[in-house]
Amino acid sequence: MSRRRRIYEGKAKILYEGPEPGTLVQFFKDDATAFNKKKHEIVEGKGVLNNRISEFIFTHMNRIGIPTHFLRRLNMREQLIREVEIIPLEVVIRNIAAGSLAERLGINEGEVLPRSIIEFYYKNDELNDPMVSEEHITAFGWATPQDIDDMMSLAIRVNDFLSGLFLGVGIQLVDFKIEMGRLYEGEMMRIVVADEISPDSCRLWDIQTQEKMDKDRFRRDMGGMLEAYREVARRLGIMNENDPKRPSGPVLVKSD
Ligand code: TMP
Ligand code: ASP
Repeated sequence: MSRRRRIYEGKAKILYEGPEPGTLVQFFKDDATAFNKKKHEIVEGKGVLNNRISEFIFTHMNRIGIPTHFLRRLNMREQLIREVEIIPLEVVIRNIAAGSLAERLGINEGEVLPRSIIEFYYKNDELNDPMVSEEHITAFGWATPQDIDDMMSLAIRVNDFLSGLFLGVGIQLVDFKIEMGRLYEGEMMRIVVADEISPDSCRLWDIQTQEKMDKDRFRRDMGGMLEAYREVARRLGIMNENDPKRPSGPVLVKSD
């Protein structure tokens, strides 16, 4: 078997050269890391779940005109994506106070924010992804003011879509992180959503019980990470093919 050229290896994914120019293969590993890899475990099956959850979300975003790098699923762990120039920023959107925001500003976890808040972090593991302002972003040339406007509009669209999607299956979208890239098509450049959206990169709370259904289970040593990811997939109607009782597509959960 000929070995594919590995383009990049991150903490949870590997990128390989794709079958055609301008494409890449994104492989989802089973590695769970937190606190910049100080905590690291192999969680068997996580890669498959994140591949399928992320595929589901990106497919639907493509369908409603939110541009993404996603092309199609290749197998249980791999997807075909467009090659983009990753903007070295992590964009965090928050609806409810949690995690570093709650800690930094002394707000109780769970408090609904007065409005959705967008934050930017400089993607650099050695520096621990420090938070940066628009001033830093433009001064250091990571993105232009126009790029920042585009990124913020895109982030708000993703937030609205994801909040509604999860609400429909009884899950509250507390916050999430996305990455974006520049896609060049001839003379044109568009900013698109890249990387992944999965319970690794979102905070998801069950609406009824407030139970955490995301990577905080791993970060905070709560156990049950894989079961929680499985439940997110099940509610979204993903990978229910083997269960004749389960409908395919999102399972509507009624809340009071
Ligand atoms: P934070 O509260 O730790 O800043 O995290 C905000 C959101 O961003 C949360 O949903 C988890 C996600 N996130 C990542 O996906 N990767 C990261 O490296 C960090 C720090 C947060
Ligand atoms: N993903 C980051 C890491 O592995 C941090 C986190 O999600 O908590 O370091």
